[in-house]
Amino acid sequence: MSDHDQSPLPQRIAPPPGSAMARPDFLWGVATASYQIEGAIDADGRLPSIWDTFSAIPGKTLGGDTGEQACEHHARWADDADLIAHLGVDAYRLSIAWPRVMHADGTPNQEGLDFYRRLLTRLGAHGIQRYVTLYHWDLPQHLEDRGGWLNRDTAYRFAEYAALVARELGGLVEGWMTLNEPWCSAFLGYGNGHHAPGLADPRYATQAMHHLLLGHGLGLQAIREHDPGTPAGIVANVGRGTSDSADPADQEAARLYELQHNDWVLQPLLAGSYPADLWDTLWPGSAPLVLPGDMDLIRQPMDFLGINYYFRSNLRSDGAHGFTDVPLADVERTQMGWEVYPQGLEDLLRRFKAVYPNLPPVYITENGMASDDRVEGGRIDDTQRQSYLKRHFAAVSRAIDAGVDVRGYFVWSLMDNFEWAFGYERRFGLVHVDYTTQVRTLKDSARAFQAFLQQRRATA
Ligand code: NOJ
Repeated sequence: MSDHDQSPLPQRIAPPPGSAMARPDFLWGVATASYQIEGAIDADGRLPSIWDTFSAIPGKTLGGDTGEQACEHHARWADDADLIAHLGVDAYRLSIAWPRVMHADGTPNQEGLDFYRRLLTRLGAHGIQRYVTLYHWDLPQHLEDRGGWLNRDTAYRFAEYAALVARELGGLVEGWMTLNEPWCSAFLGYGNGHHAPGLADPRYATQAMHHLLLGHGLGLQAIREHDPGTPAGIVANVGRGTSDSADPADQEAARLYELQHNDWVLQPLLAGSYPADLWDTLWPGSAPLVLPGDMDLIRQPMDFLGINYYFRSNLRSDGAHGFTDVPLADVERTQMGWEVYPQGLEDLLRRFKAVYPNLPPVYITENGMASDDRVEGGRIDDTQRQSYLKRHFAAVSRAIDAGVDVRGYFVWSLMDNFEWAFGYERRFGLVHVDYTTQVRTLKDSARAFQAFLQQRRATA
């Protein structure tokens, strides 16, 4: 798509003509997460989270940014709910901040719960379906002080939290997601230290992953008990890994990359086992402690699987038993430096269906891109984002044609927000946020998305 795209607004972003994604039963949404947008870290008696602690340490985030203020969504929630409705989406994916709704002794914090009750009620009044993630990385610090996800007990605390939320907010939610991207929590949090709590040892990462997935299994049981009938699943980030070298060692490196990124999470969830190559090949001696019965809890059937996809990596052998990322030259990239590679999403969806015959219905729970968006004359011309989204919509559409059961698509993100270790510089929003004034402005991508959704409704 050129800078001077003359096609009608809806067509700048729409999936291919005749696609299943243009039908009224395909769910279109936008997504956010609590710590990235709420701010108000002390309001409602909210407890500190690991991201408050981590982002306050100099050098951990770009520019020393923290989530203290973020998009002030905690104060602006009503306007933000109206903004979501204004876009014309069917659904909104948000997350609940565990430290806002549960006291350290495990009792409910009604003030914090009331914040989400008001928000979910207003969204519901707009006819917006609410997809709620329970854990999008803001672990209460008091649990980290007792070992965090390295402590098996955290999985049981998570189940108590899931029970509390399902009991208190059940009826206001159309879909529950236990965890967001356990790979990131385990690997970035405990394996390489790029995310909170900032620990770096592959043995920690595998044990943290096991406890996260155990928490998912226990959490799923709690949701089914306290809010029966509401669909529930998990959200996994997935990555495409290929090699530009035909050398068998490099091809093996690409296989190991996908195994480590995708199957480390999907195989336990869908087949009840871990890929042994993780500890036999990649990280010798890192097998986690797994107790009898754990894998059955983890592999419980889910109503859906959420998939977050962003980019492809080019891998080569590291000369030992692992892989190393060798960025390709001359490919399109985003502000994150991530390669734009829509085909990877189709490839992965088809592969998951082939490898996991019990793959539940899939929702793309995140996809989108960061760009250095600026307001010029009241407008934000984010041509690359429109093109990025359109090409990814087409990739999903091809996967659907190939028989993968994809039911919905949530763009990341509703608005610019706190991009974790990259702070506020990286802008993923359909809506621009001015962090000085907190003014929200629709980018051109938001206008195109809105126009597509309107047209789809009109022709339904
Ligand atoms: C994954 C995470 O779930 C989300 O929090 C993050 O902002 C986006 N991807 C972009 O990196």
